Amino acid sequence: MLKGKKIIIGITGSIAAYKAILLVRLLIKAGAEVRVIMTPAAKDFVSSLTLSTLSKNKVLIDLFDEDSWANHVMLGRWADVMLIAPLSCNTLAKMAGGFCDNLLLAVYLSATCPVAVAPAMDEDMWKHPSTKINLEKINSYGNKLIPVESGELASGLVGEGRMAEPEAIVSYLESNFFLPKTLAGKKALVTAGPTYEAIDPVRFVGNHSSGKMGIEIAKELHNRGAEVTLVLGPTAQGISANGINVKNVKSAEEMYNACTEIYPSTDIAVMAAAVADYTPVNAAEEKIKKKADNWILEFKKTKDILKSLGEKKTAQQFLVGFALETNNEREYALNKLSSKNADMIVMNSLRDAGAGFGHDTNKITIFDRSGHEYNFDTKLKSAVAKDIVDTIIQLINA
Ligand code: CTP
Repeated sequence: MLKGKKIIIGITGSIAAYKAILLVRLLIKAGAEVRVIMTPAAKDFVSSLTLSTLSKNKVLIDLFDEDSWANHVMLGRWADVMLIAPLSCNTLAKMAGGFCDNLLLAVYLSATCPVAVAPAMDEDMWKHPSTKINLEKINSYGNKLIPVESGELASGLVGEGRMAEPEAIVSYLESNFFLPKTLAGKKALVTAGPTYEAIDPVRFVGNHSSGKMGIEIAKELHNRGAEVTLVLGPTAQGISANGINVKNVKSAEEMYNACTEIYPSTDIAVMAAAVADYTPVNAAEEKIKKKADNWILEFKKTKDILKSLGEKKTAQQFLVGFALETNNEREYALNKLSSKNADMIVMNSLRDAGAGFGHDTNKITIFDRSGHEYNFDTKLKSAVAKDIVDTIIQLINA
């Protein structure tokens, strides 16, 4: 996928610069053409000799090299993608402010290709309000953010701010910039997360869904060119919109209303949310006070969003449901496929280690309407999302 692709790697002054060596090596191995640009501060962290040997190109650092001028405009136009990894706090601030006091910034400002950044900093710097504002600014300029990871930091502390691992960066580049846009022109609707059903103004009934699986599916559909709306229940999971239209909702009723409105113009709908099946008959307007020893709360059924979309489904629409089960998995999943008129059901079992709520991984089996069963290994949710979207594309084109 990366064969012949032209990639600029910008390296800034950060301990994580050592990871750029492996990154360049992986990109070259994958067949990409790589040009490395370093900020002057990066020279203290990593050797330009190593990087020029690996990239098979002279490493560029200065705007002026003795009597020659590095043509930043041509470099920015040459590349298919410019990746700044690691991105230090200082270069981030300069990018946000439009500063241009080194070659890397000059190339960034004149780049006509997409730009992605992989920040690396200590947790306190990462969480500083100015970092947040600067990231929002460069996001608003269209730059893509490769999420940081949690783990051991250069300071010896453990926390958020580690640069993504080189393998993860390569797969980010592949899925965000070089995947064939098979779903261009298609509109997709994805639900994700739990729903909260109010008992009174301070209490609710909810569930353990983190929303991670649905968010990954929304991202993957977007990566394949679809125009995606994500209807997201209340979750702590952050999603940097990066081109996805996010509609936040709380209750099953709100999720139903949002989906009902969006569905008629949708080509592909994936219902990954863990929607409450029941909601309190009456939500109290004031906080309920503690009285009797036992308390019975009456519930009524919520509207089944997947089922109602299945009833309205046209021949051009493709509808995907989920079935999270603890027993009789296959039977229940197949029942849901037919009773909700879905085209495909993604089943996961809480009996499988590494599957279900809260995990970063999942293990799924997919059933389609013609009786085919597709089995997959336990994988990261981002990889599971790829399998799901690949299967959707395969079935739509069948
Ligand atoms: N679903 C929905 N609206 C609901 C309940 C479920 O859209 N009110 C969707 C889920 O998003 C999922 C599928 O239906 O795609 C199956 O959800 P699940 O909770 O597993 O099944 P239920 O139909 O609620 O049946 P049960 O709880 O008996 O397993």
